[in-house]
Amino acid sequence: MIDQPRTTVFVNAVQVAACTGPVRQTEDADPAAVYAGAAVAVHDGRIAAVGAEADVLLEFADAVRVDCAGGVLTPGFVDSHTHAVFGRYRTDEYALRCTGVPYMEIARRGGGINASVRDLRARSEDELVEMALPRLNDMLRCGTTTAEAKSGYGLSTADEIKTLRAIRRLNELQPIELIPTFLGGHEVPPEYKEDRGAYVDLLVSEMIPAVAEAGLARFCDVFMEPGVFDRAETERILRAGLAHGLRPKLHADELEGSGGAELGAELGAASVDHLGDISEAGISALAASSTVATLLPATLFFLGRPRWAPGRALIDAGATVALATDFNPGSSPTPNMHFVLTAACSRMGFSPHEALRAATAGGAAALELSDGRGTLAVGTPADLVLWRAQSAEEIPYRLAAPIVEGVWKAGEQVA
Ligand code: NIG
Ligand code: FE
Repeated sequence: MIDQPRTTVFVNAVQVAACTGPVRQTEDADPAAVYAGAAVAVHDGRIAAVGAEADVLLEFADAVRVDCAGGVLTPGFVDSHTHAVFGRYRTDEYALRCTGVPYMEIARRGGGINASVRDLRARSEDELVEMALPRLNDMLRCGTTTAEAKSGYGLSTADEIKTLRAIRRLNELQPIELIPTFLGGHEVPPEYKEDRGAYVDLLVSEMIPAVAEAGLARFCDVFMEPGVFDRAETERILRAGLAHGLRPKLHADELEGSGGAELGAELGAASVDHLGDISEAGISALAASSTVATLLPATLFFLGRPRWAPGRALIDAGATVALATDFNPGSSPTPNMHFVLTAACSRMGFSPHEALRAATAGGAAALELSDGRGTLAVGTPADLVLWRAQSAEEIPYRLAAPIVEGVWKAGEQVA
């Protein structure tokens, strides 16, 4: 006899945040689309119903019940910007930064991204997989069920492909679905310091075609920043990616504004990320485009930046916003989307419901996922987090408290 997929109903939730609302909160619009007294039915890995508990229980009378014990149900986080595959942590640099040495100065002294490049090049694909597994498990336990994962610490054809192959294998080995991004344009590697044009040539004529041919990435990303890649180089790399079917993403206007948001909007990028120093023109350009503004408050916090990205201004202008961790060994060693929610509310002017939506449905938009991921509605993936909180608003309020009670991926409990 073939086992029929069973149905599960999540009962006794004080609130269910479906996250199906608009980006901006108004008197009559709730980004988190919070329902009180609702139950959620799950069948075959997807949401089968979200509605009044009595109705759902009537429809699915034989279902297995999960008791939410008065907690809050949300979609799993879609962490749309991570560098989760890397070698060692860069704890040594942190100690330096805490004494006042700036991030870019550490990079100039041979640390920074290129320190991680030296480290990753010396490791095997197997080692990268082994090192990533516990880190991904940390992300999962913090409520992340889908995440982007970038290459960008290889910076040679073989080492970038090694990283992307590790990401592909990690997809088979643990529950978080990883969406791969090629970030060969993360930094100019040391062997090309005197001839950066030759590195851009290599990216365009060898690395991008090889990555696309092997089907190893969905997006192509560039760190556009004074001292890293300029506008012309960024545009050339991203256009080459587009020609090979890789959708553009940018690290833009992170430390010093340089028109990255405007370029992203012009290229129809999936997202422009960071935006700590975005211009007024950049805000307008994003508001008028479908490019998602992805904000990474943990990075600004960890680097001790004096200014926070203008989340409120972006939302009010009409941009679509996402929140992500930027998990990486240099500027944001956190797997924790819960902290990101709190920082976005306390320092960037998000309401708690706007932040929840940006970290779920917003992340899915930044990854161009069209299966309703990041929302709870009939037919969407049953990726859920149960919070020990009395309201959705309480989630960001409970700064860094361990209030994740359970995590489900495609209907299966995974944490
Ligand atoms: O997104 N900005 C560039 N890349 C990363 C930092 C990577 C690193 O320092 O290793 C970021 O912040
Ligand atoms: Fe990044």
